Amino acid sequence: MTRKSGAATGSLKPSENGKHVMIEKSNERILEVKELSVSYKTLHVLFDVSLEIQTGEVVVVVGRNGAGKTTLFRTVAGFLKQDSGTILFKGEDIGHLPSYEVALKGLKYIQQDKHVFADLTVRENLELGSYATKDYDWDRVLEHFPKLKTLMDRKGGNLSGGERQMLLMAQSLLGKPELVLMDEPTEGLAPHVIEDLKGAFKKISEQSTLVIIEQNLPLTAEVAHRVYAMKEGKIVAEVADKKEIQDLAFEKYL
Ligand SMILES: Nc1ncnc2c1ncn2[C@@H]1O[C@H](COP(=O)(O)OP(=O)(O)OP(=O)(O)O)[C@@H](O)[C@H]1O
Ligand SMILES: [Mg+2]
Repeated sequence: MTRKSGAATGSLKPSENGKHVMIEKSNERILEVKELSVSYKTLHVLFDVSLEIQTGEVVVVVGRNGAGKTTLFRTVAGFLKQDSGTILFKGEDIGHLPSYEVALKGLKYIQQDKHVFADLTVRENLELGSYATKDYDWDRVLEHFPKLKTLMDRKGGNLSGGERQMLLMAQSLLGKPELVLMDEPTEGLAPHVIEDLKGAFKKISEQSTLVIIEQNLPLTAEVAHRVYAMKEGKIVAEVADKKEIQDLAFEKYL
């Protein structure tokens, strides 16, 4: 089904039309964002954004450049403070917590800029993640990224965009996060690299709930259980019907 303008708030009750039952894995809300407003100094960027994510879902947020997608993720992850509104992670209000505490609670954010430490090797970059999370189970994490295993001694600065993205995804899985926010993971990557990452999304989604910002609409159609469309700092539509997602029905809201 498709909803317009602000209807996302509290709209996921399966009973309404029976179409939300794709959230069979769980009906628990892992994330609730309520009427979030965010500004950069005097520039008001997010306007009363509300959304809900259920445990086990893969949700994609789409929107044109400047719609406010990154601002939304950065605020949820604790890098920006909201002017007003609430962010609940597993029912707990995290809206006042710094980003490192949010991460330790199990909500990880992979930034859009694909930043890794250029002078450190892949191994050392992972070690930093392990040090922060006390999770040294690299086998579990690297099983999704076989190519990374062959690049352990390469410096971060010498990785391709796809390899950097894989390193960031692997790092984000340390500490077994329950929710991972990925900000345009496929931006600037070649089609064959995107193909590899698609497999990784699917595997990661078996362990963590995933919310992905994506401008690649066919890829969105392939991986999303549900899609939110953002425009000019607002959620303008929510699409949950599988067929509508496959038909890219959300494109008309962008
Ligand atoms: N640090 C900042 N200071 C001031 N304005 C900012 C800052 N970061 C973003 N903005 C502005 O906020 C608005 C939303 O930006 P944001 O990065 O959230 O959009 P986006 O949807 O992620 O875009 P893109 O698809 O290009 O990544 C834009 O108008 C942008 O210029
Ligand atoms: Mg962005």
